[in-house]
Amino acid sequence: MKKLKIADGIYMISMNVEDILFEGIWDIANGVTLNSYIVQGEKTAIIDGVIGWDGVPETLYKSLEEMGVDPKSIDYLIVNHMEPDHSGWISNFRRIKDDFTVICTDKAARMVMSFYGEDRVMVVKEGDTLDLGKGKVLSFHPVPNVHWPDTMYTYERDTKTLFSCDMFGAFGRITGHFFDDELTPEEKEFFEFEGIRYYSNVMTTFTPSLRKAVEKARTLEIKTVAPGHGQVYRKNPQKIIDDYYRFSRYAEGAGKNEVTILWGSMYGMTEKAVDYAEGILQREGIKYNKLEVTQESESEMIATAFKSAGIIIAAPTYEYKLFPPVAAILNELGRKRITGKTAFRFGSYGWSGGAEKELKQIIERNNMKWDFIESVEFEGAPKEDDLKKVEAGVLKLLEKMKEKVTE
Ligand code: FEO
Repeated sequence: MKKLKIADGIYMISMNVEDILFEGIWDIANGVTLNSYIVQGEKTAIIDGVIGWDGVPETLYKSLEEMGVDPKSIDYLIVNHMEPDHSGWISNFRRIKDDFTVICTDKAARMVMSFYGEDRVMVVKEGDTLDLGKGKVLSFHPVPNVHWPDTMYTYERDTKTLFSCDMFGAFGRITGHFFDDELTPEEKEFFEFEGIRYYSNVMTTFTPSLRKAVEKARTLEIKTVAPGHGQVYRKNPQKIIDDYYRFSRYAEGAGKNEVTILWGSMYGMTEKAVDYAEGILQREGIKYNKLEVTQESESEMIATAFKSAGIIIAAPTYEYKLFPPVAAILNELGRKRITGKTAFRFGSYGWSGGAEKELKQIIERNNMKWDFIESVEFEGAPKEDDLKKVEAGVLKLLEKMKEKVTE
């Protein structure tokens, strides 16, 4: 665990977690940090509690002691969000100290009870405050459905620090630089993508609520954004707020000026057309990401498609339907409510078509509203004429996606 001072009386404990499936699903390639914050006035509060993914709270207690905070001196345990990556140590803490108060929203209180049997809770609502003494005053600001219905911001008035929980968070381990002003250009690029991965894998389903949370953040005077995952923004907190707004637009079809190819092929026929389309993209000088669906994690495919203004789906018919792994990732993009993308599909068929029918069903069932260029299907291997149609489709995609391109 890494221990850092954020401001006078405010400390951070951060832990890298790797080799896990986040939420039991997401194979996150570069890990994630779990951040906890301590605010000290005359009273002491801890905001979210980082424990080992194996649920060992002693690591947290030891870290607190090493930074001069006796765990038994903690008066308030502020649960910005009940998901166990933020709150999983409550029951254990009750065993070592009995007289502390959990502070959370009413929705979190129900889950704190149902998950941990904990009922000594102080429920807060919008604008409620807690004076810790020595000038440290916390205020509470619910941001429902970021990412569960229970979530809230905690804001410290003296230092103008926003403890934003999952909001403004990012995946990605941190090895040295915990503050935005310390990042190298390579680290900035790394965390830009890890922020997109986090938003698209975990948060995008709740985009309308995230927009409201962006607006709520904009009503507060903020000097520092201190999220539950990822680095602390003290030089330019506005940047991550603006980034989250931009990500919310990706969820509705906007994207970077790049194309993601999600492709699968049974015997190399569709792959021939993929290679051809790749050549067109190279010739046109457009950035592209080529992801073979059977080889990539869902986490990577969702994040990459999410940030792209244009999507190419390349997949054959398989047993009267769309090649199953491609159907699965499209369904997942639909479940995540990633809507409005500009897209183009091509693919091979052998003894029967059917892929196109299922593609349309997936798009419709999930209300994805993707804007498709007319698909190209070919029997067996693509012939010269088929490849010309693929080229025309790719060029149309590049033209059409211009309307959706953002930074
Ligand atoms: Fe960081 Fe919604 O958990």
